[in-house]
Amino acid sequence: MAYSSFRQFVEALDKAGELKRIAEPVETDLLIAEWANREMKSPGGGKALLFERPLVEGRESKFPVAINTMGSTRRMALALKLESVADLAQEIQLILKAKPPTDLREGWSLLKQGINLLHARPKRVKDGICQEVVQLFGQGSPGISLVDLPILKCWPKDGGRFITLPNVHTRDPDSGERNLGMYRMQVYDERTTGMHWQVHKVGARHGKRYYERGERMPVAVCLGGDPAYTFAATAPLPDGLDEILFAGFIRKRSVELVKCKTIDLEVPADVDFVLEGYVQPNESRQEGPFGDHTGFYTAIEDYPVFHLTAITNRKDAIYPATLVGIPPMEDFYMGDASVRVFLPVFKMNFPELVDMTLPPEGVFHNLVFVSIRKQYPYQAFKVMHGLWGMGQMMFSKYIVVVDEDCDVHNTSEVLFRLCANTDPERDSTIIRNPSDSLDHAPSTQNIGSHMGFDATQKLPGENYHRQWPELVKMTEEAQHLVDALQKKTG
Ligand SMILES: Cc1cc2nc3c(=O)[nH]c(=O)nc-3n(C[C@H](O)[C@H](O)[C@H](O)COP(=O)(O)O)c2cc1C
Repeated sequence: MAYSSFRQFVEALDKAGELKRIAEPVETDLLIAEWANREMKSPGGGKALLFERPLVEGRESKFPVAINTMGSTRRMALALKLESVADLAQEIQLILKAKPPTDLREGWSLLKQGINLLHARPKRVKDGICQEVVQLFGQGSPGISLVDLPILKCWPKDGGRFITLPNVHTRDPDSGERNLGMYRMQVYDERTTGMHWQVHKVGARHGKRYYERGERMPVAVCLGGDPAYTFAATAPLPDGLDEILFAGFIRKRSVELVKCKTIDLEVPADVDFVLEGYVQPNESRQEGPFGDHTGFYTAIEDYPVFHLTAITNRKDAIYPATLVGIPPMEDFYMGDASVRVFLPVFKMNFPELVDMTLPPEGVFHNLVFVSIRKQYPYQAFKVMHGLWGMGQMMFSKYIVVVDEDCDVHNTSEVLFRLCANTDPERDSTIIRNPSDSLDHAPSTQNIGSHMGFDATQKLPGENYHRQWPELVKMTEEAQHLVDALQKKTG
């Protein structure tokens, strides 16, 4: 069964020995971040942390802060209530195999139908515990505002406090389709924040249509609830595949949606906080700097402004946060789970694909390792170009393609293949493509070059005119004999 609250998930982490509770008061200004950074950098991602008495400028907040709750392979699986995220990938594969799709578009649409069949469709409910306490702005009732939430200042040169795990709900004004994405929010004052949806993201696309229509854009930001919502918000689903439906599929239970109090949007009824509000057409404000996923501060830039009209919350709310910075951080485990879960969808488009990973050093898209079952010349290049054309994989800065017998999760093994198997001029390609907005290396933001390496064994027709050497390997018999001997000698 799904988690009915973020608190229930935090308690499950505690029971599994995956949580450290900190009863001491700790400042939200840098100190929680410093503590979390140490934990995230410890082997395997350390433990989740629950700060029971966070301080905001010396004042104790009534809401605890939970951080690093998904920051290990085990906690990521616990977040999705699975033994392993591979189990979810297997379910997706079963749906896709029911009637093999002929192309990627059909694959996604089949996945959508499959999800519907599994009764993952959201349900509308009249009341939600996320509205247990309601604070409407501009109506005089004393309640909470953003300054009462234990929002972190993460790094010394950050432009202020940032909400780092917000699930941002928007709607396409033309089609009515929902979107759920994660875009950080800089707090400007007690009821205004930035809205950092980058140009390639669905929230930005929805925003653009509201601006063109000259209409105020309703936006609801949820914090907490079942961690499946947060995972769905970050997952690179194609535009049009409903994250709420996907969350229902993951949690094997429909997401219950409740109407917001002040805007025409619906949100999951069991989340911890809902920040209701709007983005005004053509209003922007400087956002940043922010110590980002890249390990560098992102520069100050103009982004839309989010005005709050209400905050609603459950009484037992816990404030969820993460910290990004020099890898490895919690977000690596979230991104890694996405790749593992959607591997069957990638395999559908590339039948030769065996495995794929985005190692932590590459901070998501900077580095992609792919292994393939190679059959014909230039197949590695075909896979690279295909990946560069698929959704957020367009940002992949370096793609290294290896043969199927190379373990892509072993960076050292991939680097060995890269160094040994490539003649740089023959086996590399450089293309032009959109770049990640956060990438500071390209001369112009959002556009740049990407590089692919074919580190596979060369086949006839690939301009290699020598005998390809054999990889040094021990016989299986010798391995078994030594296994047995070692067991005997302890
Ligand atoms: C912790 C975390 C923070 C993120 N912050 C941002 C952000 O500030 N802006 C952004 O455009 N994407 C951000 N992302 C990436 C998006 O959430 C991700 O690309 C998602 O798929 C976007 O959803 P969309 O395609 O529905 O827009 C963040 C991801 C994570 C894991």
